[in-house]
Amino acid sequence: MNRLGTETAFEVLARARALEAQGRSVVHLEIGEPDFDTPANIVAAGQKALADGFTHYGPSPGLPALREAIAADFTRRRGVTVWADQVVVYPGGKPVMFFMLLALLDSGDEAIYPNPGFPIYESMIKFSGATPVALPLREENDFRLDVDELKAAITPRTKLVIINSPQNPTGAVLTPQDIRAVAELCAERKLWLLSDEIYARILYEGQHDTPLRYGDRSRIVVLDGFSKTYAMTGWRLGYGIMSPEFAVPMARLQTNATSCTAAMTQMAGLEALTGDQSSVDRMVAEFKRRRDVIVDGLNELPGVSCKRPQGAFYVFPNIRGTGLQSKELESRLLDEAGVASLSGTSFGAHGNGYLRFSYANSVDKIRDALTRFGAFLDKLPARVR
Ligand SMILES: Cc1ncc(COP(=O)(O)O)c(C=O)c1O
Repeated sequence: MNRLGTETAFEVLARARALEAQGRSVVHLEIGEPDFDTPANIVAAGQKALADGFTHYGPSPGLPALREAIAADFTRRRGVTVWADQVVVYPGGKPVMFFMLLALLDSGDEAIYPNPGFPIYESMIKFSGATPVALPLREENDFRLDVDELKAAITPRTKLVIINSPQNPTGAVLTPQDIRAVAELCAERKLWLLSDEIYARILYEGQHDTPLRYGDRSRIVVLDGFSKTYAMTGWRLGYGIMSPEFAVPMARLQTNATSCTAAMTQMAGLEALTGDQSSVDRMVAEFKRRRDVIVDGLNELPGVSCKRPQGAFYVFPNIRGTGLQSKELESRLLDEAGVASLSGTSFGAHGNGYLRFSYANSVDKIRDALTRFGAFLDKLPARVR
């Protein structure tokens, strides 16, 4: 259990809530979930499913109708043909990585993961007994991975590579050329590839692409889900796309762990995919507006500079010019200015020198946070800055 990590977002949220309980005001820019409610048509489908008796166990890989709908949606949006027997439905996107890494990794194996990156990758690689190998994402490369660096990180022990685009915590988007190069490299070296595409639809510029179009499909798993796209974090609904052969053990792990995903949740997911998509478009347009407000605002602050990310709902400003370490700034921003953010180091050692702000909050709140951040920096002694 000592090898198991966590997500510090939940710890910062708890500290922020404790401050609020003392009467302090806090602007929440720490948690990675849309602030929008689940669209009404999806909620209604969930309610109807309850009334219609979708309250029983179902098949471990997911309800056939939903697996069909996911395969059709994936085929249409990604331009790669996928069939229902390649889809396994889970309670969220996270179980896809949990089960995949548990299924494939053993002690002595190495797995390459993006750093800074979603903290559960490193945690789960360690938990499986394998060795995590950090692939640094650098600001000077717009936080995209460097394919030559990836090549150099591969050893005879490497079993698996993880990529994530659009990315948490930087919002970076890999180009189709990047995706193709990674997919071909993994195919050539016979490596498994986990492509975390949970933010695929939250894209403002550039183009989303998937390694399934280029690589060895027998060793690629795509993780996607409903949490971010349809503001359904609390419903717990995600899926993996994989080879029909690998879907068998991946569903069997689910049989052992949770039996199946909640039936009424899956029916809500069916409506999400097949119903009106305009709420997704509205949400993405609003996120884009907020992105521009927060990026422009951060770039006006002394000691802070921020790239304009192309996707997800995070910004990852460089805060080295403030003279403070990331962790100290995270903590003082919360205590002294009432702005909840996450230290870049919450996403791995290569996140040092950065903060992550989630802009899943209103433009007014974002402006308030920027004013508070500015006032905090103005009060810092000159020698710190
Ligand atoms: C990169 C990434 N992958 C996966 C997940 C997990 O999503 P879910 O809530 O559907 O399990 C998240 C959630 O924050 C994420 O940021």
